[in-house]
Amino acid sequence: MKALVLSGGAGTRLRPLSHGLPKQLVPVANRPVLFHALEALRSAGLRDVGMVVSGEGRPIRDAVGDGSRFGLAVTYLPQARPLGLAHCVAIARDFLADDDFVLYLGDNVFGEGVSAPLADFRAHRPAAQLVVRKVSDPRQYGVAELGDGGRVVGLWEKPAAPRSDLAVTGAYFFTPEIHRAIAGIRPGGRGEWEITDAVQWLVERGADVRATVLNDPWWDTGTVDDLLDCNRAMLDGLEPARRGGVGPGTEIRGPVAIEPGALVEESVVTGPAIIGAGSLVSGSRIGPYTALGDGCSLVDSDISHSIVLDRATIHGVGPIRSSVIGRAGDVRRAAPGRRTHTLLLADDCRVELAG
Ligand code: G1P
Repeated sequence: MKALVLSGGAGTRLRPLSHGLPKQLVPVANRPVLFHALEALRSAGLRDVGMVVSGEGRPIRDAVGDGSRFGLAVTYLPQARPLGLAHCVAIARDFLADDDFVLYLGDNVFGEGVSAPLADFRAHRPAAQLVVRKVSDPRQYGVAELGDGGRVVGLWEKPAAPRSDLAVTGAYFFTPEIHRAIAGIRPGGRGEWEITDAVQWLVERGADVRATVLNDPWWDTGTVDDLLDCNRAMLDGLEPARRGGVGPGTEIRGPVAIEPGALVEESVVTGPAIIGAGSLVSGSRIGPYTALGDGCSLVDSDISHSIVLDRATIHGVGPIRSSVIGRAGDVRRAAPGRRTHTLLLADDCRVELAG
């Protein structure tokens, strides 16, 4: 059994973060989303991973390497253009050979991993085993309609009028029959070879297609809201640690991880929260569900429920809530007396000024 992890795609809904960083490398709880995915595959017992990347995929290769540090053996499969999930499977045809495999979307995080659906797949070995979960707005996802015994009777990609509230999540278990299905489909409405259409092709030809209905949490971290939500949940499991320094006048409440080389002084930090390696926190309040990356500087500021990427600076600003600040971002209060805002924003940035 192999794993095919998709780490390409344009990440349009995560702009501007995805301009400079593949969306799978955006951190939740200070670790790239993709690392959570790779760990889930390893704990399900998988080892052999094909990784589809955009172009040469340099940033992903730099972050993941040969996979050995995750206990995995990773083979990179470059995709010249994002032409859909089924197209990724087609690119990986030689790597997959005639093995069964799990197709795993690198921006998906499963709260309890993928061992349970994998066991379901192994128990029946259907042509395809989906993992579905009830969601409040199924129109944003692939949607499955189930019949008796978890059999899939129909599938639709982002339907305007969903026939069920079961979203298809980003873990699919396949036998090699899927390759025949992919050869039988054409690009869908958004011009992409949809894996949803390939699975529907199997359903229409009477193949055994099943679904595991998930009750555990699951995130498709393709949007900022989902990213913050996933960050929150991952921080809920945080192991407190004091690897960095805590200076005078500081109060630490609840689970807080302070990484090596970080210094927290004259501040109140309420966990769960992480202060990344080499970061300085001074005269500030950090509230729950905040992940501050490495090498950040937070001075005279107040932040909660936010993700701050490496090397960002926040000086004299707050309260900041439900925000994501990109790498080396700089947010600061203007010099006293100034009455105007000065902004230098890259493409697709979003700013909401209060008061
Ligand atoms: C893809 C699939 C969709 C699935 C979703 C899960 O959508 O096409 O069927 O529900 O992943 O994350 P995308 O995120 O590419 O829009």
